[in-house]
Amino acid sequence: MKAAVLQTLHQPLVYTEVPTPQAGAGEVVVQVKAAALNHRDVWIQKGLYPGIKTPLILGSDGAGVVTTLGEGVSEYWLGKEVIINPSHNWGDNPAYYGSDYKILGLPDDGTFADYIKIEARYLTPKPKHLSFEQAAALPLAGLTAWRALITRVQLKEGDRVLVTGAGGGVALIAVQLALALGAEVWVTSGSDEKIQKALAMGARGGVNYRNPTWYRDLLVKAHAPKSGYFDVIIDSAGGAGFARLIDVAAPGGRICSYGGTTGNITDVVPAKVFFKQLNIYGSTMGTEQEFADMTLFVEEKKIVPVVDSTFPLSRAESALRHMDFGQQFGKIVLSTEE
Ligand SMILES: NC(=O)c1ccc[n+]([C@@H]2O[C@H](COP(=O)([O-])OP(=O)(O)OC[C@H]3O[C@@H](n4cnc5c(N)ncnc54)[C@H](OP(=O)(O)O)[C@@H]3O)[C@@H](O)[C@H]2O)c1
Repeated sequence: MKAAVLQTLHQPLVYTEVPTPQAGAGEVVVQVKAAALNHRDVWIQKGLYPGIKTPLILGSDGAGVVTTLGEGVSEYWLGKEVIINPSHNWGDNPAYYGSDYKILGLPDDGTFADYIKIEARYLTPKPKHLSFEQAAALPLAGLTAWRALITRVQLKEGDRVLVTGAGGGVALIAVQLALALGAEVWVTSGSDEKIQKALAMGARGGVNYRNPTWYRDLLVKAHAPKSGYFDVIIDSAGGAGFARLIDVAAPGGRICSYGGTTGNITDVVPAKVFFKQLNIYGSTMGTEQEFADMTLFVEEKKIVPVVDSTFPLSRAESALRHMDFGQQFGKIVLSTEE
C-alpha cells in the first residue's frame, strides 16, 4: 500500500510503498477513504513532541471501509463505513486519562495511508449524512470540542460563548456544536474573511485578534458592560492574549483552554480571576463515551464539519504546509482516491 511517511524529523513527508497492515486479535483493517490533518501533525513533523520514533505514518483522523476482521471481531463490522476514534487507552477515570493513553498517529502508525489496522472498539459507524471527507474531518476536532463544551464547561442553552481563532479545525466545530446547543456564539479570528464566514454559519459577531484593541471592541460590539460578557470561552491560543479573555469573561464565567498555539500564558492578573470568580478549565481529547455522544449529536443535528480543502494522499506534504501557513477555514483533508 501507499502511505505518507515521516521518515526523518524536520523533513517533508514521503509518499511511498509500505507493507499493508494485518489485523491482530480484536483488530480490523480499514481501507482509508479520507484522512484529516490536525495541528499536531505539523508539530510532530517539527519534532515538538517527546519520544517521536521515525519512520512514522502520521494522521489521527480517518474514515473508510472495514476490509478485514481480526480474531474475535464481530462480523457486524465487515464492509461497514466507519470513522475512527483517535483517543486510545483513556482508562476507567472519566476525569483524566491513564498513563498509557495515546492518540492515533504517534506512537502508532496513523491514517495517512491506504489502510490502517485499528482495535475494533475504536470504530463508529460513519454518520450517514456525511461524505468520507466530511466524516474524516470530525473525530479528533469533534471529540476535543465536545469534551470542552459539554463535559468541562457544561454549556447551557443561551450561554454567551466566545470561540477564539475560529478558523481552526477544533474551533470551528466548537462553533457548530455550540450553535446547535442553542448558545449565542461569538468568535475571534486573524482574518476578517473568516469572521464573515463564521457569521454566515450563525455566529452573532466577531473581532480580529490582530487588532490590539480587539477585546474592547468585542465588548462594545456586544453592548456589554466593562465587567465582561461571555459565560463561556473556548480557547486554543493561550499566550499573551489569554489575559484579555479574563477581561471579556462575564463574572462567574468558565474559560476552557485546550491548546497553546501562541505559547505560554502571560500577564494574567490574579485579582481579576478571583474577584470575577472565574473558573478556568483544561481539556484534552475525550473518552469513548464522549466520542459516542458527540457522534450521535452530530448525526441527530445533521452537523457537517467544514472542510477547507482536500488534497490527494500523495500530496500530504503540501497539505501540511497549507496548515502551517494558517490560511485554512476548517479542516484540511486527504483523499486516497487520486
Ligand atoms: N487538547 C486537545 O485535545 C487538543 C486537540 C486538538 C488540538 N489541540 C490544540 O489546539 C490548537 C488548534 O489545533 P487545530 O488542529 O484546530 O489547529 P488549526 O486548524 O491549525 O487551527 C489553529 C488556529 O489557531 C488560531 N490562532 C492563531 N493565532 C491565534 C491568536 N493569536 N489568537 C487566537 N487564535 C489564534 C487560528 O485561527 P484563525 O485562522 O481564525 O486566525 C488558526 O486557525 C493547537 O494548539 C492544538 O495543539 C488540542
